[in-house]
Amino acid sequence: MDPSDSNYCLALKDILATAAAAGGAKRTLSAIARRAARALKACGCAIFVLDQHGEFLIPTASFGLSEIYLKKGSLRARMSLPGVLERRTVAIQDVSKDPRIEYPEAAHAEGIVSILGVPIMDGDRVIGEMRAYTGERRRFTAQDKDFLTASASATAFAMQRARPFEKRAPQDQAESGVSSPSDETNLAVSRPTTFAHPSEAEFAALLDFYRIEWLYEPRTFPIKWDGDRVVQMFAPDFYLPELDTYIEITTLKQNLITDKHRKVRRLKELHPEVKIRLINKGDYAKLLAKYGYGPLAESKVQGISRVLFSHAQLQRRVGTMARRISQDYAGREFLLVGVLKGVLCFLSDLMQRISVPLAVDFMAVSYWSGDAGHAVTITKDLDTDIADRHVLMVEDIVDTGMTLNYLADYLRAKKPASLEVCALLDKRVRRLVDVPLRYVGFEIPDEFVVGYGLDYQGQYRNLPFVGVLGPQPLSGGGASSQNKSSK
Ligand code: IMP
Repeated sequence: MDPSDSNYCLALKDILATAAAAGGAKRTLSAIARRAARALKACGCAIFVLDQHGEFLIPTASFGLSEIYLKKGSLRARMSLPGVLERRTVAIQDVSKDPRIEYPEAAHAEGIVSILGVPIMDGDRVIGEMRAYTGERRRFTAQDKDFLTASASATAFAMQRARPFEKRAPQDQAESGVSSPSDETNLAVSRPTTFAHPSEAEFAALLDFYRIEWLYEPRTFPIKWDGDRVVQMFAPDFYLPELDTYIEITTLKQNLITDKHRKVRRLKELHPEVKIRLINKGDYAKLLAKYGYGPLAESKVQGISRVLFSHAQLQRRVGTMARRISQDYAGREFLLVGVLKGVLCFLSDLMQRISVPLAVDFMAVSYWSGDAGHAVTITKDLDTDIADRHVLMVEDIVDTGMTLNYLADYLRAKKPASLEVCALLDKRVRRLVDVPLRYVGFEIPDEFVVGYGLDYQGQYRNLPFVGVLGPQPLSGGGASSQNKSSK
């Protein structure tokens, strides 16, 4: 037997025992990181959890790495060792020369030369990463890789076991006013369970409502030195990646506010490129309004029970759909047919991102529904002849499928060269008539949604996100009668 095999076997025995023991997630994971680093003769080891959108790696536990290295900035899963996200083991021999390293200077300053990264899996889903770091150039062996992979499996097991221990009792939360904003379906360790101040928890909850991505204290900036030694650091409370902005929340204590103002000023002097805002509670809504989230001075939009897709999520998804459409229609001129009015925002964003030539036309319909069933009438027909042309119908949402079925039949009768459908939202559970959808943005549950062009009695079309309508919606000023409505 290779001596490294028995070293790894012993280490794994310890790691599994640690994973199986009861205890807080953070302590358990730190112990696993420490044991794994020692067995690998590595200078450090870190465990990261993917955030709820699968975009960022949140450092959750580590051994042998400095605070400043761990908080060097947000780690984008797609840019930092991207292969790991695709379930591969990634070995980097020299961090200074590898484009897969997001912060090579920080790694250099930390004395890191080689990195081995493996995915942490929950079934066939990547939920995080485990990385080992060495201070000398290292060609990782198959045994090293197998050992770290096995340690990552033990880590996944520890995370699952730790979940109940991370949850705090409700009355605990009520007393402190600080609650964990982490999604129930998420690993509790992926978000901080305690914030330094209740106002941070409130702010995080507000960001969650609007589905604005946030990272809690992801970066520490050195702001004062004594010779080479850092004597003061500043970690802003939040980083909002979609807005590329750091947020520092002020409390009501005047002495702290003055100190925070000083730190922010110093940070701006040292890093003029960094966007940072110092805000108090009253500023939250104004800040959100500035970026198009929520009406001024109102923390939540009246009548909306929750945001289903944020503006940034919609933009990302529409971008992906547009790329696929551009590939599929390359070399074929085509016509986008939008069905008014709900498709307004989606069509506008989609067509701007399609990179091949296209033309646009619109149709409008209105419905009658009553005892006799559901009838659709065309209130605006196409201006264009579609015979022998490639047509892509663009719909906001497909619910029962009746409207789409009617319109697709109508358009097919005009003998286009091809006819496909692209829908932003698909309420598949409600489908009565099945019309094949070539491109779908998101499949959604059976809930009435508004925003991003979609309305309820003529209201809410201007919201920059898609939200679920609550029990007390705004009602429109006579925009619809009892049983006739236009889209
Ligand atoms: P279908 O004929 O039942 O598929 O209905 C499709 C049309 O109903 C859509 O184009 C929308 O105009 C409207 N609709 C269906 N569900 C919703 C919703 O949740 N919010 C807003 N409009 C909806």
